[in-house]
Amino acid sequence: MAVPKSKLLLVASIFILGALASQAMARYTPDEASMRLRHEQWMARYGRVYGSSREKEVRYQIFKDNAALVDSFNAGGNKPYKLGTNQFADLTNEEFKTTRCRFKGHMCSPQEGSFRYENVSAVPTTMDWRKKGAVTPIKDQGQCGSCWAFSAVGAMEGITQLSTGKLISLSEQELVDCDTKGDDQGCGGGLMDDAFKFIIQNKGLTTETNYPYTAADGSCSASKEGNPAATIKGYEDVPANNEVALMKAVASQPISVAIDAGDSSFQLYESGIFTGECGTELDHGVTAVGYGESDGMKYWLIKNSWGAQWGEEGYIRMQRDVSAKEGLCGIAMQASYPTA
Ligand SMILES: *[C@@H]1O[C@H](CO)[C@@H](O)[C@H](O)[C@H]1NC(C)=O
Repeated sequence: MAVPKSKLLLVASIFILGALASQAMARYTPDEASMRLRHEQWMARYGRVYGSSREKEVRYQIFKDNAALVDSFNAGGNKPYKLGTNQFADLTNEEFKTTRCRFKGHMCSPQEGSFRYENVSAVPTTMDWRKKGAVTPIKDQGQCGSCWAFSAVGAMEGITQLSTGKLISLSEQELVDCDTKGDDQGCGGGLMDDAFKFIIQNKGLTTETNYPYTAADGSCSASKEGNPAATIKGYEDVPANNEVALMKAVASQPISVAIDAGDSSFQLYESGIFTGECGTELDHGVTAVGYGESDGMKYWLIKNSWGAQWGEEGYIRMQRDVSAKEGLCGIAMQASYPTA
């Protein structure tokens, strides 16, 4: 039986089209479905609720991009750290930068003055101030650019414990609400050195319990402010661009450091020793609470203020002793500490 050529062609092309279509679906649909499921699971894990299905779709697309970045980075397998779809996985890098970091790096004057640890010679090879009881639990600044307050308070909690033997969680909100006459602007950003200046003038800082954190700018409560729980005498800057000096300082007490935390690899950091990407545009304040070495790589132990779900239970280990004198992400550029 003879089949017309045209009919054969038609059947053949329908078959080919069908095969192409099913191949496309095999490539696309299950991936899309599993990505949407992954987003749902992520929402449940981080308690994320969206106001509308439109908002959810926008956030899903961002989540998808970040998840793809995380997967391809981790599959690369040639880095000493891993990324993860953490609580910032539905934010674009731009959104992340504007809400989670507000160190006013551009306003800083050069580091100067005396450095009391300059002649420290015997520094231990590792240090972890958590093990010495000088570090309070991880806090969460929320959607407020108050990292500078958390960084300064972390260092002050450290020196207070070292000088009095008491670990007291101190108030960031007091700095956010009351330290407003200079360059510090609450959730709008600030500087650790200016926070120390305010604390000295203010004759101390009250406790976290007495003046709890709200993640928003508020008016200064004079009654809470007038009830200090700890004081500092002064503050000093670590000589800039010198990781050896920084090590002497961190060996002696927890230290406020400024870093460039603006890259998506920092946003989505999960574990391991962070090696960048990052530049030296200082936009975040954190507290260096130790240092060490793991698998032949030296690191700084950094207490962040983005909750205990971020990174290594709220901490990040950042590569130490890099070739650039500024240190990784500029960590050695503007370090400072309060004195008791
Ligand atoms: C460090 O040692 C030098 C030389 O002995 C001395 O001049 C300087 O004051 C010392 N620095 C501190 C902070 O003690």
